[in-house]
Amino acid sequence: MPLYLVTGGCGFIGSHLSAALRARGDGVRVLDDLSTGSLANLAPGAELVRGDVADHAAVRDAIAGVDGIFHLAAIASVERGVQDWPGTHRANLSGTIAMLDAARLRKLPFVYASSAAVYGDQAVLPITEDAPKRPLSAYGADKLGCEQHALVGGLVHGIPSMGFRFFNVFGPRQDPRSPYSGVISIFCDRFSRGEGVDIFGDGGQTRDFVHVSDVVAALLAGMAQASVEAPVLNVCTGRATSVRELAETIAAACGVPAEIRQRPPRAGEIRHSLGDATRLRALLGPGAPRGLRAGLEEVVAWLRVGRPGLVPGSTIR
Ligand SMILES: NC(=O)c1ccc[n+]([C@@H]2O[C@H](COP(=O)([O-])OP(=O)(O)OC[C@H]3O[C@@H](n4cnc5c(N)ncnc54)[C@H](O)[C@@H]3O)[C@@H](O)[C@H]2O)c1
Repeated sequence: MPLYLVTGGCGFIGSHLSAALRARGDGVRVLDDLSTGSLANLAPGAELVRGDVADHAAVRDAIAGVDGIFHLAAIASVERGVQDWPGTHRANLSGTIAMLDAARLRKLPFVYASSAAVYGDQAVLPITEDAPKRPLSAYGADKLGCEQHALVGGLVHGIPSMGFRFFNVFGPRQDPRSPYSGVISIFCDRFSRGEGVDIFGDGGQTRDFVHVSDVVAALLAGMAQASVEAPVLNVCTGRATSVRELAETIAAACGVPAEIRQRPPRAGEIRHSLGDATRLRALLGPGAPRGLRAGLEEVVAWLRVGRPGLVPGSTIR
């Protein structure tokens, strides 16, 4: 059976990917420093190497015997990039270069997480992959750097890769207590506990919310189609949802009245973010991506059951 390295496999998206790989019978090794991830997220039967993706020795150890790399580890927060610019750069871009450097020795296929943050604020919607890249944050700039280095990895070192610009990903295991968590997990958590939510501004700002199962499907397809041309695709739905509409939908899913407190708008917040999913649809085929409502009910159900403990059969070293 093939063995894959999943960096950030104890995080939200990495844990879903690891579980999907294990479910189809593949071996999974996770490289994670547990800075924002949790041992409880380690997939059954996966092996954990606790370490830093920017530490070349840890990376060399982690890639021994693997057939491909899914690189998802990052400090996934715009705010953290403001507070600790060099620290987030080390994890987000130096870490990616360390992973690519390890991949080049055996030309291992390299599938990695970029972000819609590379686009910044775009006037033309939906945003296609060819739109100009104007990151407005250190986080977005580093993600764009990851794409550029993957391209160099293909050109100079023959590393096959595929990158994915995730829009707003949601699903179970997104930690609502994290200050960096997505709006969906926070709203689901508050409404399921019978509390109201805060909306910044008029709530008319829109986002493109994509379910984690579509993200996983894209990552798996990317491993099969990675190439030295280093393609990069949007992972989005092409459907816009306003934050107010989102709050009302989640309140309805939780069976509570939509208690919304309006707060002053946040400086610098992008008004509209909407991706073009044409290339993603071509990659995944008909049926994808999944709708918002079905995914929301799953998150609410997960919050009601609570977070599971460490899964038996997982190993740590
Ligand atoms: N969640 C989203 O909506 C979203 C949107 C765009 C891009 N992304 C990208 O997707 C990837 C996964 O995001 P997520 O939402 O699952 O975040 P997450 O914080 O849940 O997972 C990130 C994981 O990486 C680990 N990690 C962080 N720094 C590390 C380091 N230096 N060495 C080893 N491990 C480290 C963390 O412990 C965590 O387990 C990230 O690259 C993120 O930038 C996420």
